[in-house]
Amino acid sequence: MNETIRNILERRSIRAYRPEQIKDEERDIILQAAMHAPSAMGKQPWHFTVIQRKDIIDAISEGVKKAAINRNIPGLKERVLEPGFHALYAAPTAIIISGDKTSKFVYADCAAAAENILIAAQSLGIGTCFIAMTDIFFSTEEGRKFAREIGIPECYEPIYTVAVGYKACDAPQPAPRKENAVTILRQGDGSVFVAFQKNH
Ligand SMILES: Cc1cc2nc3c(=O)[nH]c(=O)nc-3n(C[C@H](O)[C@H](O)[C@H](O)COP(=O)(O)O)c2cc1C
Repeated sequence: MNETIRNILERRSIRAYRPEQIKDEERDIILQAAMHAPSAMGKQPWHFTVIQRKDIIDAISEGVKKAAINRNIPGLKERVLEPGFHALYAAPTAIIISGDKTSKFVYADCAAAAENILIAAQSLGIGTCFIAMTDIFFSTEEGRKFAREIGIPECYEPIYTVAVGYKACDAPQPAPRKENAVTILRQGDGSVFVAFQKNH
């Protein structure tokens, strides 16, 4: 198996991080990978905000907690009130991926960039977790103001966050893969398409 496939198959969400910061060279390679993701019509409708300040990372988690309590969503409120809750798992680096929401496929584009971050980090032995929960905060008035204060440009809105750092735990076992998730129509097989052609 080649290294790329191994990194894809062995990547897992990491939810405990060592406090020391990743190296600047590692951070910059990860960002290069993010910026080389595919995007619809090559628009690159994204902006990456790299936060390597504990006070800001903790403030985002507190914002998520407050917003989740205010919104009173069953299950979520209990989760954020658990002792030790941290929306970004106290990772030393958080990369906020913001998108230009006037761009039609912005969610797919930003998710492609996020996946490149996860795989690039895995290839460097660095842990990550893809986090959408931060949206609970960033979709509030307070969260939008916070986004401007940390320098997210006017026409971009935070969409996803990726927690990044050296792992403080082993990778969890992957859940079993869903069955019947793949259909292959091979040349020469009797196929649905033949019936479709006859009827049209
Ligand atoms: C769109 C998206 C949103 C996610 N949001 C969160 C999140 O807010 N918090 C979290 O801990 N994990 C989050 N995850 C990670 C998933 O829980 C994780 O990928 C899934 O359980 C499979 O585990 P694995 O990544 O270890 O293979 C998210 C993943 C995706 C793709």
